[in-house]
Amino acid sequence: MANSFAPYPAARARRLRRTPALRALVRETGLEPASLIWPLFVREGRDAATPVASMPGVSRLTIDRVVRAGREAADLGISALCLFPYIEPELKTEDCAAAWDPDNLVNRTIRALKAEVPEIAVMTDVALDPYNISGHDGFVVEGEIVNDETVAALVKMALAQAEAGADIIGPSDMMDGRIGAIRAALEAAGHHHVSIMSYAAKYASAFYGPFRDAVGARGALKGDKNTYQMDPANSDEALRQVGRDLSEGADMVMIKPGMPYLDICRRVKEAFGAPTFAYQVSGEYAMLAAAAQNGWLDGDRAILESLLAFRRAGCDGILTYFAPKVARMLRG
Ligand code: PBG
Repeated sequence: MANSFAPYPAARARRLRRTPALRALVRETGLEPASLIWPLFVREGRDAATPVASMPGVSRLTIDRVVRAGREAADLGISALCLFPYIEPELKTEDCAAAWDPDNLVNRTIRALKAEVPEIAVMTDVALDPYNISGHDGFVVEGEIVNDETVAALVKMALAQAEAGADIIGPSDMMDGRIGAIRAALEAAGHHHVSIMSYAAKYASAFYGPFRDAVGARGALKGDKNTYQMDPANSDEALRQVGRDLSEGADMVMIKPGMPYLDICRRVKEAFGAPTFAYQVSGEYAMLAAAAQNGWLDGDRAILESLLAFRRAGCDGILTYFAPKVARMLRG
């Protein structure tokens, strides 16, 4: 592989870069709307959208608007939506009971989508943070984010989402043992066909800041998430996490954030060959959107390049807030 070029001038790399047709002929990877998952923020109310200040172009949508977005996404060839709820501060509690309420905002949205846009896959988020008065993904007991009690709650949450019609359950909480517990509960309840995309290698990252604004968790979060999310210094550990989640019954795995972790994407794809996804998170979106807005970058080109990089790194698909914009670009 390494020496497959003849010496110059027998080999001139520029021969195959000379025209668009020649470049297209030897292109190694591509990007299609079908590889995209569009994350959406849901709020209560009717026919309304609340812009998220730190994510220019992104709004929290009422259920009817999410359904409209779902129709648009399906028509653009986007494969899936991923839902995140905005929960009013006064509705956040210590016991997080709203998380597994069959009629909570997310579960109502799933039902509406399945009724109106059945062809698009619906993915959920499994973690307590939008509902938690402390802003953490798990229960907090005397300052500790407790694991096993949290897993029991996550199982209830996932079951309620499957019951509502979710196609893909997305545990983003980074508790130990949650994939096995959720898989066993889904099987026991007859949800054999519901898939799990585990946030397997999720790092304790500064790039989630805008998301926490979007779901109203920034003000709530006490401390940091370092005792459960991964240390950005680690790479081998990501492989152990992915291996564990696959062996517990995850169908697909995710690396998060995306662009700063492309090395992890490549290693995971090569080590396991499983369906592998990356999440281009809110902070990555904010950086690109802000630079484009200021005219500092050619936004369209930079966005396409950023997403192609995930495909080149071995990802099958990408969660990105740019999904509809990119799908429109790709369709010309
Ligand atoms: C929480 C969750 C987070 C994101 C997805 N699910 C934030 C966090 O862990 O604090 C981040 C997504 C983004 O930044 O776009 N369970």
